[in-house]
Amino acid sequence: MNDYSEKFEKMRIAGKLASQTLDMLTKNIKEGISTAQIDKLSYEFIRDNGGYSAPQYYRGFKKSLCTSLNHVVCHGVPSEERILKDGDALNVDVTAIINEHYGDTSRMFCIGKSPVKLKNLINVTHESMMKAIKILKPGIKLGDIGFEIQSYVEEKGFSVVRDFCGHGISTIFHEPPNILHYGKKNTGMDLRPGMTFTIEPMINAGKFPVKMLNDGWTAVTKDKSLSAQFEHTLGITENGYEIFTESAKGYFKPPYL
Ligand code: MF3
Ligand code: CO
Ligand code: CO
Repeated sequence: MNDYSEKFEKMRIAGKLASQTLDMLTKNIKEGISTAQIDKLSYEFIRDNGGYSAPQYYRGFKKSLCTSLNHVVCHGVPSEERILKDGDALNVDVTAIINEHYGDTSRMFCIGKSPVKLKNLINVTHESMMKAIKILKPGIKLGDIGFEIQSYVEEKGFSVVRDFCGHGISTIFHEPPNILHYGKKNTGMDLRPGMTFTIEPMINAGKFPVKMLNDGWTAVTKDKSLSAQFEHTLGITENGYEIFTESAKGYFKPPYL
């Protein structure tokens, strides 16, 4: 026992609900479904399992999760009009709150046939997140996380979005510290046991600048290049880390089924 074991127990439950939601959505995310239908399935699943979808009414957001397609970097708003079609690449970002604790996780989904460049972008994005997760332990610094992601992604010829970052998370959806996905080794705050936060790199096939659409939420790549993202909610333990949002079904990156 330690002073954060109760917090971690609750983070496990919230993380599990968020990851189970993505697992449940996996079979439904296919050509012909609208992003609003994905939103509804997720909202109902989380509600029926005793939780609530945190994005709903969050700072005026009108849906219960984010659906970010192709050149959308993040915070895409589900819509009845947007029907998934062959070749689409979709990030679905679910945040569940249950017992006052949040679980926040996102995965990429590919519709039909994907070009090699897209598959490569998705693999590099997932790998960059996992590489950063694997170094987590008390005593490393926040800058080490960013360095791990940025150096790997840039070596592959892609770029790391600067305008959005990971975040502390527990009984508050977004709390300090910011988790930058770029940075320098041995800089920034020390990681300590009991810290809980997300790592959620947004990686662009082209350059990193983003542009906001007029809806005030949707962020797109300025150069219209493809963008990919994955997200996990994690905790720092005495000698390493715990991922709260791992898929029980092994659905960590596409292809899933
Ligand atoms: N889930 C997003 C994150 O990873 C935040 C979405 S807030 C919303 O932090 F309002 F855009 F839904
Ligand atoms: Co997040
Ligand atoms: Co999220």
